[in-house]
Amino acid sequence: MDSKIYLSSPHMGGAEQAFVNEAFQTNWVAPLGPNVEGFEKSLESYLGNGTHVAALSSGTAAIHLALILLGVERGDEVLCQSMTFSASANPIVYQGATPVFVDSEPETWNICPDHLEVAIKDRIAKGKKPKAIIAVHLYGMPYKVDAIKKISEKYEIPIVEDSAEALGSSYKGRKCGTFGDISILSFNGNKIITTSGGGALVSRNLKHKEKAIFLATQARDAAPHYQHSEIGYNYRLSNISAGIGRGQMEVLDKHIGSRRKMNQFYHEIFARTEGVKVFSEPTSDFFSNHWLSCILVDKTSCGFSSEAIRLAMAENNIECRPLWKPMHLQPVFKNAPYYGSTVSEKLFGIGLCLPSGSNLKSEEKVKINDVLIRFVDN
Ligand SMILES: Cc1ncc(COP(=O)(O)O)c(C=O)c1O
Repeated sequence: MDSKIYLSSPHMGGAEQAFVNEAFQTNWVAPLGPNVEGFEKSLESYLGNGTHVAALSSGTAAIHLALILLGVERGDEVLCQSMTFSASANPIVYQGATPVFVDSEPETWNICPDHLEVAIKDRIAKGKKPKAIIAVHLYGMPYKVDAIKKISEKYEIPIVEDSAEALGSSYKGRKCGTFGDISILSFNGNKIITTSGGGALVSRNLKHKEKAIFLATQARDAAPHYQHSEIGYNYRLSNISAGIGRGQMEVLDKHIGSRRKMNQFYHEIFARTEGVKVFSEPTSDFFSNHWLSCILVDKTSCGFSSEAIRLAMAENNIECRPLWKPMHLQPVFKNAPYYGSTVSEKLFGIGLCLPSGSNLKSEEKVKINDVLIRFVDN
């Protein structure tokens, strides 16, 4: 059998190795060093808008620190998009707070402004104003930035912008990762660029960056001995990983171009298949990096399900995945409050993520095309 075609695998550009070698040669094999600062600077200039970046060990760590910086404590409530990866919500529980999940709207699949406002009003009426809103740009598609920001400002509840999947996406020409009171990025192995594992906290407030680095390096007070007045974490990115990140920054825009071409590739494959819709930007305000290309499959009009496509692809050693299962449907969050209808639940039922890597070879694309065309034609 041919080698497996993955949904999204690491794609090195070439310069990564040189940055890593330099770290070895200079013995900066530690969670600090010139690559960490170089990677942060490179992200700051890419994102623009006066952002400050703290490179961390994961996107999850970045969300955890963001919640701490926003003062989330035991007994608090935090609003969170239900349709997402569990890492968006888990840090709420690390803090002893309760997640309050909110449904998606059907255009961007992200947090619905209407349900968000209903949730805020109801939580306030029940006696507790939520401490933060975690909004996610799913699969690289920007959430409805203006509408969510308006609600955040009206109720004075800060936004943690989960841009783990959306580095290089933009809304009205401004980069995702610059919209939150605090934003986060992920450089996990499957993301648009990777450091093998890593993440970043982004804020326009320099104090957020400084405090995040302080907390991420065990919260050491300024003293010659080890002195601590706060609980710290070991969340800083290593200089080796940051070296990979510096190399990856050189090819980020190329990766975005390739992923967007993959999206176009699926548009062409399914152009004549009634009932299969490729996930696309709703208006020209939205620019997605198309980290993953996804489809919705309406069985009543095309006669097959998304699961049938997944199985046909799996038989040919091609990886596909259902969309993120909403958090309010997850056993671990079964007791968490939820506001919404069935939008995210329905998306989960009929959606599928397709191979989207920037490193897919032309023969792999031919194979994907052949398997899909054979499937829809039967
Ligand atoms: C939406 C979302 N949030 C958060 C994360 C967490 O990032 P990390 O894996 O770097 O901890 C991920 C990816 O893994 C993600 O897809």
